[in-house]
Amino acid sequence: MNEQQAKIRIEELTQLLNDYNYAYYIEDNPKVSDYDFDMLLEELINLEKSYPQYVLSYTPTQRVGGHITKSFKTVLHKTPMLSLGNTYSREDLAEFDGRLRKLTDKPFNYVCELKYDGVAVGLEYRKGLLFRALTRGDGQKGDEVTENIKTIRSVPLKLQTKEGDYPDEFEIRGEVIMPRKAFYFLNKQKEEIGEEPFANPRNAASGSLKLQDPKQTALRKLDCFLYFLLGDNIEESEHEKRLQMAARWGFKTGHFYKVCANLQEIYAFIDYWEKEREHLDFDIDGAVIKVNQMNLWNELGFTAKSPRWAIAYKFKAERVCTRLKKISFQVGRTGAVTPVANLEPILLAGTIVKRATLHNAEIIEKLNIRLGDMVYVEKGGEIIPKIVGVDLSQRSIDSCEFQFIKICPQCGTPLVREQGEIGYYCPNEDNCPPQIKGKLEHFISRKAMDISSLGEGKIDRLYQKGLVQNIADLYDLKYEDLYNLSTQITDKVGNVKVLNFKEKTVENILAGLEKSKNISFERVLFALGIRYVGETTAKLLARHFLSMNRLEKASLEELIQVEEVGDKIAGSIEAFFSNVEHLQIINRLRKAGLQMELEEEKRQEETRLDGKLSGTTWVISGVFSQSREEMKKKIEENGGHLSGSISSKTSFVLAGDKMGPEKRKKAEELGISLVEEAEFMAKISKDSTNVDTKTKGGDSSEKPAEWTLF
Ligand code: IVH
Repeated sequence: MNEQQAKIRIEELTQLLNDYNYAYYIEDNPKVSDYDFDMLLEELINLEKSYPQYVLSYTPTQRVGGHITKSFKTVLHKTPMLSLGNTYSREDLAEFDGRLRKLTDKPFNYVCELKYDGVAVGLEYRKGLLFRALTRGDGQKGDEVTENIKTIRSVPLKLQTKEGDYPDEFEIRGEVIMPRKAFYFLNKQKEEIGEEPFANPRNAASGSLKLQDPKQTALRKLDCFLYFLLGDNIEESEHEKRLQMAARWGFKTGHFYKVCANLQEIYAFIDYWEKEREHLDFDIDGAVIKVNQMNLWNELGFTAKSPRWAIAYKFKAERVCTRLKKISFQVGRTGAVTPVANLEPILLAGTIVKRATLHNAEIIEKLNIRLGDMVYVEKGGEIIPKIVGVDLSQRSIDSCEFQFIKICPQCGTPLVREQGEIGYYCPNEDNCPPQIKGKLEHFISRKAMDISSLGEGKIDRLYQKGLVQNIADLYDLKYEDLYNLSTQITDKVGNVKVLNFKEKTVENILAGLEKSKNISFERVLFALGIRYVGETTAKLLARHFLSMNRLEKASLEELIQVEEVGDKIAGSIEAFFSNVEHLQIINRLRKAGLQMELEEEKRQEETRLDGKLSGTTWVISGVFSQSREEMKKKIEENGGHLSGSISSKTSFVLAGDKMGPEKRKKAEELGISLVEEAEFMAKISKDSTNVDTKTKGGDSSEKPAEWTLF
């Protein structure tokens, strides 16, 4: 393909992929399979790499995330972003309508819309291209979040209509939301790595928009509904017509709005959505009622904070009052202890509620909840009911303050609450039953070792029978251990069945374990279940340290050098590897044949990316033809780390003339290679190949790493 052909193909692919995106995310009418889409996207990525001069500003390749934003720029809104007055009753709405009818005698109707529960944004377009995106901020000025907004697939980077159909410059406002499914998925992931989950999808959307790395935002699966088109040169003067126009240009305006002529129709809209909202896949917290005729907006005017021509009707979160019988405690995989309220059963939003989460110790303290209290239980947009308060007037005089448990309900270990933390956790990570089972379940899960032949039920059975206590025990399982082992299965209606492991089941389990030996090092690392080490961190650690052996020995300072690893994560990793039992488990996994090193391909990619000495630690000794400072600089420029003294963490010693005999002896004792100046210079020269960081004798933790060079 010559340059001209590449240019044309880039244009073609950009247009095509944007159209496919529109069909999928806005029209809900996919035009190609995911596979075909990915192939075309890959073709475009490759062409853009080879011909960066032809990359178009609206390329769909930005959807996966562009440059990191160190701090968000604050920008003045061209038109202030106002908020709305709230009402909670029909009477308030009748008053609103009456007020407007007094202010004007011209005829008008309303547009009723959903009140999306998310984060307000203003998107500016110039010449049909997304130019800038701002959050609401204080209404006068907001944060510029353009890079993050570009990752939202339903936001057009380029309008779906021909030039001339839209004004040169305009702004459209709307709400960024996180769909419920994405929210539950994100919180599950957060809980898996011991992080505090988001309280609701709105907070999750807001947090995701403020991430510095758009690549991370891209993973959050945000969506954006647009509800307000502003601009001087727009012909349509009815709000409804403008929404239709925006939809033709490619914006997601939703199909939920309705033109209502009078209060009765507004009430019907509200009643419908108050019930129907549980079937939406995103949260709404009410309805917004706007005067449709925009030419009346100025006449009707504004109060200090909000327009007079629109109002928000907020749904009441359904709330009931019931007795708190007991607080029980659940211990999760990471040892986090979650208090659960056991309630006198009560009907709430169509379901009988018996239990409600109390999240953590801090919430119990804040609400000052006591056993036997009458408590208010709410179910807002969220699925899980929560306790929002106590009816103090009904409190018994002999009730006493609730004491959070001091020891783990599962293993009796004293609980820990670290400074600044909102909850307690059980530190007995290796001997506390739910933590053991949780770790095993995490280990076999799809994103970790992906051993689907061993589900939760089977793991439970193996643990009950004393066959597995930790992840390494899984690889000692033999046919005889498993054959005829019984497992209990509870079906949806609560019937318990007992099944025995038969030949096929046993074979599948053993084959699944065998297959897992090919799972990459980065996933093995994630599978270990180190507190705060999620999928991404595991990947970054694997790429930085290249092998388990080197990660095991990393100091806090070395750990902190890894992208995204701060004090908290580094401390947790160091604590994990300082535990002898953990090292023994890792050794057994190593002997079983699990991957303990980054694959050669990824390793080379890493070395290429970061420099020829990436991931290696060097000690300099002796005299060189250039100054020692010069030599140190060379090591660092090529991605190597420097260290002052030889230890088991040293990868190589750069040996000059007159190297001290003590150092030489120590290096020899630890089996660390000495590299001479000429050899070193040749290898960091531009046209040399990368340092071969493969270990000589396998990745054995008993022996210090022996690194062969070149
Ligand atoms: S119109 C001047 N329409 O609710 C009018 N707002 O309480 C601007 N919201 O700040 C807003 N859904 O973040 C409008 N269909 C909708 C909305 C909506 C959600 C949010 C928006 C606004 C807040 C006002």
